[in-house]
Amino acid sequence: MVKKLELLYEGKAKKVYKTDDENVLWVAYKDSATAFNGEKKATIAGKGRLNNEITSLLFSKLHEAGVENHFIQKLSDTEQLVKKVTIIPLEVVVRNYVAGSLAKRLGIAEGTSLEKPLIEFYYKNDELGDPLLLEDHIAILKLATSEQLALLKAYALKVNEILTQHFQHCRVRLVDFKLEFGLDGEGKIVLADEISPDTCRLWDIETNEKFDKDVFRRDLGSLTDAYEIILQRLGG
Ligand code: C5P
Repeated sequence: MVKKLELLYEGKAKKVYKTDDENVLWVAYKDSATAFNGEKKATIAGKGRLNNEITSLLFSKLHEAGVENHFIQKLSDTEQLVKKVTIIPLEVVVRNYVAGSLAKRLGIAEGTSLEKPLIEFYYKNDELGDPLLLEDHIAILKLATSEQLALLKAYALKVNEILTQHFQHCRVRLVDFKLEFGLDGEGKIVLADEISPDTCRLWDIETNEKFDKDVFRRDLGSLTDAYEIILQRLGG
């Protein structure tokens, strides 16, 4: 068993600690919720546990389905061990239905089905407000090579196929989600970060009731009740 060492980084939703194994990080999920680039903030008891549980289930599912990722094991209600990777500062968003910023940008009604999944890249940069990037912007910023971008898209589509089907079995519509990837010691691209109702839009397959962070963003009710429904439907 590895030992937890000093805090390396504290983000909006997680704390990341070093361990006595240089290839392994210790992640603790926090009970904090933020939206609109940190403008809206709250402490929500139980949120850390729910996201840790849900992320652990989904990363294990992806691993079984052959998608390499950083998840090693769940340690406790709110903690997990992950492989250390260098995060590529790109948010890879996959959309199956129009919602959120896409609805706003293009003026298309929320819930409109897309003929094929749409992949977007955003620059992971709080100061700039995570702007949408064209592939030429990514090249200018040297965030990824065109070969790496092609791999990121292929991995994102594979994750989308697996998770769309998995959520469908659980009577949940995977509207959209955000992925992050990192590079391991050999420069190989590995899926990282988290996949939870904080990073996905998840709607009831029949009623379109929202079970994701939009409940917090739009004051639609209890966030933990919504996340608990997702955990239960996933069999957790
Ligand atoms: O806000 P937008 O519609 O662009 O978000 C698309 C998807 O990406 C949503 O599921 C949202 O929760 C997720 N996302 C995220 N982190 C961000 C931006 C978006 O998890 N910084």
